[in-house]
Amino acid sequence: MSVIEEALAALDLETKVKLLSGKDFWTLPAIPEIGLRSLVMSDGPIGLRGIGWRPDDPSVALPSPTALAATWDPALARTAGQVLGQEARRKGVHVLLAPTVNLHRSPLGGRHFECYSEDPLLTGEIGAAYMTGVQEQGVGTTVKHFVANDAETDRFTVDIRVGERALRELYLAPFERIVGAGAWGVMAAYNGVNGSTMTEHADLQLGVLKREWGFDGFIVSDWTAARTTAPAANGGLDVVMPAVGDPWGEALVAAVRSGAVPEEVVDDKVRRVLRLAARVGILDGATPAVVPPSTLDGAAVAREIAARSFVLVRNEGDLLPLDPARLRTVAVSGALAADARVQGGGSALVQPARVVSPLDGLTAALAGEPTLAVPGEGSAYAAVLNAATVTYAVGADPRQRVPFAAAPQWSDITGVLRAAGGRELYRTPLRSAYVRWMGDPPPGVDPDEIEVLSLSARLTPAESGTHELAIVGFGEFVLTAGDHTLFEGPVYRANDESDVFRGAGERRFPLELTAGQAIDVVLTQRGGNPGFVSFAIGHAPPSPGPDALLDEAANAAAEADVAVVVVGTTEEVESEGFDRTTLALPGRQDELVSRVAAANPRTVVVVNAGSPVLMPWADEVAAILLTWFPGQEAGAALADVLLGAAEPGGRLPTTWPRRDADALPVTPTDGALAYDEGVFLGYRADPADPLFPFGHGLGYTEWAYESLSIEDRAAVVTVRNTGPRPGREVVQLYIGPSTPDASRPRRWLAGFATAAAEPGEAVTLRIPLPDRAFQVWDGGWQTVPGTYTVEAAHSVIDRRLTEPLSI
Ligand code: BGC
Repeated sequence: MSVIEEALAALDLETKVKLLSGKDFWTLPAIPEIGLRSLVMSDGPIGLRGIGWRPDDPSVALPSPTALAATWDPALARTAGQVLGQEARRKGVHVLLAPTVNLHRSPLGGRHFECYSEDPLLTGEIGAAYMTGVQEQGVGTTVKHFVANDAETDRFTVDIRVGERALRELYLAPFERIVGAGAWGVMAAYNGVNGSTMTEHADLQLGVLKREWGFDGFIVSDWTAARTTAPAANGGLDVVMPAVGDPWGEALVAAVRSGAVPEEVVDDKVRRVLRLAARVGILDGATPAVVPPSTLDGAAVAREIAARSFVLVRNEGDLLPLDPARLRTVAVSGALAADARVQGGGSALVQPARVVSPLDGLTAALAGEPTLAVPGEGSAYAAVLNAATVTYAVGADPRQRVPFAAAPQWSDITGVLRAAGGRELYRTPLRSAYVRWMGDPPPGVDPDEIEVLSLSARLTPAESGTHELAIVGFGEFVLTAGDHTLFEGPVYRANDESDVFRGAGERRFPLELTAGQAIDVVLTQRGGNPGFVSFAIGHAPPSPGPDALLDEAANAAAEADVAVVVVGTTEEVESEGFDRTTLALPGRQDELVSRVAAANPRTVVVVNAGSPVLMPWADEVAAILLTWFPGQEAGAALADVLLGAAEPGGRLPTTWPRRDADALPVTPTDGALAYDEGVFLGYRADPADPLFPFGHGLGYTEWAYESLSIEDRAAVVTVRNTGPRPGREVVQLYIGPSTPDASRPRRWLAGFATAAAEPGEAVTLRIPLPDRAFQVWDGGWQTVPGTYTVEAAHSVIDRRLTEPLSI
């Protein structure tokens, strides 16, 4: 008997059932009698949060999944996975709750930044490579959220009405690809599909995933998604998370005893959990599926992915790359230039050890500080650096909340936990006056003892005038500044999920301060044993007002050699838990871009957003660089790209619409959201006038597409670097019926590969054309015979070479 069968045979029904539900928020119970340790799970997907409060044990923060997909590079996605697998092992986590492979159906979707692409092939290839990288470290993954969780509005209850063809050809396709590549886990979504909630969906979980695709891993519910006993157990779900609200436990034991759930069904689930435990090395006697663990430098990988993901969508007169030797003044503006938004909101949030803002990255690079040399690309500029002056003006501040208190004006930031009577349980220095944790308290602290949480810090104002201090969070608070109690009472209680993700309320308090005169600020929260904590001290220095801010930025731009404006979204715009209502940039950022561009024709706009935003000013500026949520090394990678040490390697993984009306709606009607567009999603709908098309992105060199031929069901494409610099080209292969067929898109992505070449060099790529590319779902996969047009392309609208192919 195998180790797994032996372990299973040793368990009684109660113990088997116990193993199928969370012990707490993140773990499954240990069963020492069979040598099974507790399985620990944690989010995902851009960093490994860990399951408790460890401000002294930060997490590497990689760029957003949209950025990873924009690299179109499965090898880099695999490296990203390896970094996260490595992080998981370091933090004692066995299963990473990622990757998120729902599709970019609508850019209004709040978790758009957390998914890869509107295209199922690109999503599947990036997701499969990422999964492989994580699992190579002996750490499991849960490919999520199975399936059609493509927006957030009413996500717990919405029923997605989607036709069989679209479901198979688009939404299930990435899951099929990644499960086929060997994923050990899948997470069942909150939503329903065609009338059945996903945690009970026997057709999709048992029929498609387990039987048809042969999935041998475990299906875990999204957190609190499982609501029933027998229907969920019989519908294919294996594990219910978390412990709170668990509908299994004793109820499942009773359901087995009454015959409502066959015991073999429970056994199958337990077998899957034990198989997972064996794979991740927590079942005695089983050989874990581990290769030698990697020792990657997470920060260096974050920086490389960021630079490789940035998409240069416009570069009039080849303004970029900037020549550092000729720069005397660079005028930087935008609130996000100093306070970079490096990750999206929700369960994906991690706390990195450092964040390099665009302003810091550019200032450091232009001061001649050493930068990471990117192999094969000119990094010689560091030698010719002069001391260019970098000026900074906020210009426009879209943040709805004041920023969290942090250096340089704040020092001695400390978090303290106390028991009743004031006894100190834990104390830690913090980088900013912000505490957030979901799950366990710090090591060694008994959660039941916690009575008071406090943040204290010293503010040394840089300017005299009316500052604003703020409490951000929810709960009972006391805020003191020096001898004054500014507030005592309840701030806010979250009453729906989106408020939890929005970080709840903010209360501001004006305070007259004198430059250089330090004051101690303490924020105290009362409340026993909190499982979810999120609160902060905010601080805004005196402001001259929005009109004056715009004037300042325009004036500084007028004086400079080049202007760099950083614009983007805020945590109130892009997050798990709610959808967007508009793609427009928040606040007066559009106005800021127009003002700066009018003042200086050499204006570069850096877009710091995880998903599409509108750009009414697109034609007014010389260059536009999309940087997604770029992860902790944001500013370092930005400097690499703006100054030419690295080429912006990204290509759009999703169509960027020109106006809100072009985004598919995400609001359900009578509890249902109909995917009426069927298979005509994104570029497959052949949009007439996108702002930027799927696949688009400029590098710093030129490419000639020299030849295309079809050999043995593969496209053989030769491209030549005809420009002055080394570079990379993502060669995209589209196919479509030669005679238009109204039931199918005009063309779809069938493959892609990357060429890297020196100036003058040619590269020949062989890109396989899989059978699936010629099939439709019609009760089964059916190859559609006929003549197809195969196109080798730079983007979906910039197609360079064509070849017919008869099937
Ligand atoms: C999210 C999942 C996440 C889970 C645990 C849920 O709200 O939808 O993606 O893995 O929470 O944090």
